[in-house]
Amino acid sequence: MHRRGFLAAGLATILSGSRALAQMKMDGMSDMDSMPGMGGHAGHDMGAMSNGPAALPEGEALRELPMLANEAGQPGLFKARLTAAPATARFAADQDTPILAYNGMSPGPLIEAHEGDRVEIAFANRIEGEQSTIHWHGMPVPADQDGNPMDPVAAGAERAYAFELPEGSAGSYWYHPHPHGKTAEQVYRGLAGAFVVKAKADPVPAAYGDTVLMFTDLRLAADGSMPDNTMIDQMNGRVGDHVLVNGQKNPRLAVAMGSKRRLRLYNATNARFLRLAFDGAAMTIIGTDGGLLEKPVAAEEIMLSPAERIELVVAFDRPGAATLTTLDYDRGWMGAGRPADAGLTLLTVDVSQTPGEAMPPLPERLRPIAPLGRPAVSRRLVFTETMAMNATGMEMGFLINGKAFDMERVDIVARAGETELWEIVNQADMDHPFHVHGTQFQVIEHERDGKVSKPPYLAWKDTVNVARGETVRLLLRQERPGPRMYHCHILEHEQLGMMGIVDVQA
Ligand code: C2O
Ligand code: CU
Ligand code: CU
Repeated sequence: MHRRGFLAAGLATILSGSRALAQMKMDGMSDMDSMPGMGGHAGHDMGAMSNGPAALPEGEALRELPMLANEAGQPGLFKARLTAAPATARFAADQDTPILAYNGMSPGPLIEAHEGDRVEIAFANRIEGEQSTIHWHGMPVPADQDGNPMDPVAAGAERAYAFELPEGSAGSYWYHPHPHGKTAEQVYRGLAGAFVVKAKADPVPAAYGDTVLMFTDLRLAADGSMPDNTMIDQMNGRVGDHVLVNGQKNPRLAVAMGSKRRLRLYNATNARFLRLAFDGAAMTIIGTDGGLLEKPVAAEEIMLSPAERIELVVAFDRPGAATLTTLDYDRGWMGAGRPADAGLTLLTVDVSQTPGEAMPPLPERLRPIAPLGRPAVSRRLVFTETMAMNATGMEMGFLINGKAFDMERVDIVARAGETELWEIVNQADMDHPFHVHGTQFQVIEHERDGKVSKPPYLAWKDTVNVARGETVRLLLRQERPGPRMYHCHILEHEQLGMMGIVDVQA
């Protein structure tokens, strides 16, 4: 099904600031009646995002994500199976929630492999009536192994994914489905997992541990089910009622006073922007999407837009509770029901009264990052949202350079091994986190209201937020040939057209 845009019928327009919001319905949707807020009853789903969020238990001990077992039994090879299938989860007491899961769990099992390994994953799609894929978000894998929408795995079918992890590729990646028109839904129903590539020689002391914290965003109806997306969700991206960490709401973690912990934070939500601070503990940024920084950077707060990751070392030097909380962030919201962003406690760390064993210090240098250098080509990608009148009503589109995604169209032809400058221009009313497949890039400049600023540190990234009215300039080089997707990682926007294809030629 093509969901290039959607129609606003009847112009039941509500004004929100300078923006107009209309009661809309999907263009060409056959399952319209099953979607709340699609059929009529203007206002029904406009404010309240669900019929009263269910209460979720808080304060359970933080679960480490279960690891995907390596079945290879030989060094240098990681071999396993991942099956996407319906499952049930227990979020609220006494209620089973139907979800989609990898190997029965959501988030999916943690994959941990090493630089230099070969990875072979047999994937089975057991989602009835839906295509799926596994996309290896951020990873340097060949184009035909990257789970693009052009390579769907039919319902009931299997396929093998295989790739090598090059030297220097250690980082915090993830995996999720990417089928045409179904990515947003399969992800919010539960399909996403972390993929950590470990370095051969890791400069971060092992005593800090290594904990993945994967944030997802759950909306639960009173009966324990996950409601379908509403029109508001299609426009803004789906934001849930509960931000979960490794599937739990505000879990607790006990640490000894004076300890340092290495934490990998993942924003695996469809559309929630997470501006975070630790109350009672000091944060140091040590890595981003594509691995370690050159040197640690102290931070008062961090910002994770959808799909971004950040690696932290957190020092717990004060006894008592240290909490990871959200701060307010205005990412541009269309219509009613802007979710409360600030003041959510995502994680509570209980720091002991008595000090633990002394921890080794964090080294001053982590690894070198070579700047990508002079670009051979420069390109400009302009993000817009449009609302246009046509015969049936108002049509909204999420566009790049005036075009909605077309799987049959190549938007950019690039050359493998050549450095390019990409200028991402956001002329829309919402922030759009830009992501490109197959490589990591380096952000070199932000521009807003004619003011140019440099990022605070050099880093490897595969996703960067482009705030409304902002221009982000980045350097990127694709090493491997083949078609690659680039898109907004608000998955509903990706689905509604904000995606393109760069064909990398050898
Ligand atoms: Cu998480 Cu096309 O990507
Ligand atoms: Cu990706
Ligand atoms: Cu977007």
